[in-house]
This record gives sequence, structure tokens and C-alpha cells, in this order.
Amino acid sequence: MNDSVVSHNDSQNSEENQDSANKREQFGNRFLTNEKNVFDFNAWDNVEWDQELLDQAEAKIKNNSSVLMPHEKAEDYEKKAGDYWNKFYSIHENKFFKDRNWLFTEFPELLGNSELNEENFKIFEVGCGVGNTIFPILRSNNDPSLYVYGCDFSSSAIEILKQSPDYNEQRCKAFVCDITDLHKNEFPIKEGELDIIVMIFVLSAIKPEKQFETIKNLVKLLKPGGKILFRDYGLYDLAQLRFKPGQCLEKNFYVRGDGTFVKFFTQDDLDKLFTECGLVKEQNISDKRLQINRGKQLKMYRVWIQTKYSKPKI
Ligand SMILES: C[S@@+](CC[C@H](N)C(=O)[O-])C[C@H]1O[C@@H](n2cnc3c(N)ncnc32)[C@H](O)[C@@H]1O
Repeated sequence: MNDSVVSHNDSQNSEENQDSANKREQFGNRFLTNEKNVFDFNAWDNVEWDQELLDQAEAKIKNNSSVLMPHEKAEDYEKKAGDYWNKFYSIHENKFFKDRNWLFTEFPELLGNSELNEENFKIFEVGCGVGNTIFPILRSNNDPSLYVYGCDFSSSAIEILKQSPDYNEQRCKAFVCDITDLHKNEFPIKEGELDIIVMIFVLSAIKPEKQFETIKNLVKLLKPGGKILFRDYGLYDLAQLRFKPGQCLEKNFYVRGDGTFVKFFTQDDLDKLFTECGLVKEQNISDKRLQINRGKQLKMYRVWIQTKYSKPKI
């Protein structure tokens, strides 16, 4: 692999496994009030970006977007997107992403909601990978009315997920599916069946021109009052600034060194997308964190966007 190109290993691991490096209880409360203390801890929350930082980020993006990937090469990556994710899981198996234990702090809705719940409580995780969200949900809620679906593009990921001792078809069902094309496969979920759809670092892997249609189709699966819970990369995240020219396909959309796609969202991008698909905003926040490598005295500015949008009841 080309060293100069961002891969999962050097950029994605930390943001998606934020709770593995730092205990969740510490998050949300650690504010940097005096720059002199910056290397005292591993992470700082809600970091304000000053103009200098914004200008530096803009300059890096301008530079890495200055040479776009040729159209034919970009199309080839798209055709083989599933193969690249399969390769990713064949290499990393279930050891790359850690269980998302921060889930319930950010998304307490996953623990059940009597207001939504009629006879059953159904959750669907899109792009579930090897089950780092599905299994924590199943472990934290033993209610027999809970049922969790999960789908992923990658057959390798679904095979690994199904080998887990926690996989039990009485309580969950995992299947291979490309969510940009729900009609292609035999799809097990009916319209209006779901209470919650979870999307964690998955929409970023989908070509921007397909995102609207994808969300529109997912919205059909929600019950009235059901919600999409979303967390993904934000504009100016360290992973975006590290790209080199030639990996950009279009504005804020890149191919990593391992062939997988990644989009960096603004809060407005997501508000437009979800509201145009008929949903109503409940939350749309930008989580700006400063991670510190104390040994190397390195500052790493991370940006994630977290949203909750619901389907109107009538
Ligand atoms: C960054 S991983 C995140 C996995 C999981 N959500 C988690 O948080 O551990 C992105 C996942 O999305 C899946 N994916 C990408 N494009 C997809 C598509 N069109 N349909 C279904 N899954 C897709 C990939 O195979 C991969 O497992």
C-alpha cells in the first residue's frame, strides 16, 4: 500500500473505537481552558476551532482536492466496493472495530422506548460489519420483544458476525445487502416495521449521489415515530486532512488506500438530506474532540457528526 495514502489503519481506528482508548465516562466533561495543559490528558471535548485552525484545514483540503481521481479509476473503485470491504474483513476479521459501548450514552433510544413500542421493538443496523453495535444492544436488553436486524455489503463481515456465540436467530438476523439497492436482494424487512435504524460510519462509505435514494428507501421501513440514529465523519476531521492529492473523487469524498470510500459531512449536509427525505430533526451536533498523543506530543483534531431524525407520526 502507498504510505502516503490514508488507510483504515492509520486514521479510522481511533475515531471509531473512541471508547477503547479512553473510558467513556471521561468524555463530554474534559474542557481545555488553558492551552498550557494540553498535553496533560489523552483527549479534550468540545474544542473550539479558531480561525487559524480553520484556515489550515481549508488549505489542506484545497490541496488534497486539487487533483481529482480520474473518472474511470473512480468508477472501478465503485464497482469493486464490496470486494474492498470483503478484503478489509478478511484481513482484520472481528479485531478492528471494538464494541461500541458509548452507544447507550449517546443513543439511549436503543435501550427501548415505551412510547414507540407496541408489541415489539425492532432495530435495524445498516452496515453492521461484524456486530460491534448489534451484540452490545442484544446484551443490554433482554426484553423478548426486542428484535435486531443487521445488514452489510460484505459477506465476509456477515459470516464472521454469524459465527459469534451471541448470534441467535430468535433475537437477531444478519444478512448481506447493498443498502443503495434494496430491491436487488430478497429483503426481509417490511415497510413501516422498524422503530430504529442505526447508521454508524456507514453513509460515509456510500457515493454521495446515491445517499438521497438510500435514505428515502430506509425511511419507508420506519414506523411513524421511528428514528434514524446516525454518527459519522465531519468536515475537517483529521482523516480528511491527511489525504494526499489524487484520492479525492469529488468535494469532501475520497478513496482510502485500502479502496474503501469516505465522505466527510457538514451538519447542514445531513439536515438537508434527512429533512428532504421527510424526517424531523431531534438532534444534529458536531462532536469536536482533540485527541493527544502525549508520547509524541501530537495534537489530533477529530470531528464527528451525530444526528437523530424521526419520522412524523402522521
Ligand atoms: C466503517 S464500517 C462500520 C461498521 C459498523 N457500522 C461499525 O460501526 O462497527 C462501514 C461498514 O459499512 C459497510 N457498507 C459499505 N457500503 C455499504 C452498502 N452499500 N451497503 C451495506 N453496507 C455497506 C461496509 O461493509 C462496512 O462494514
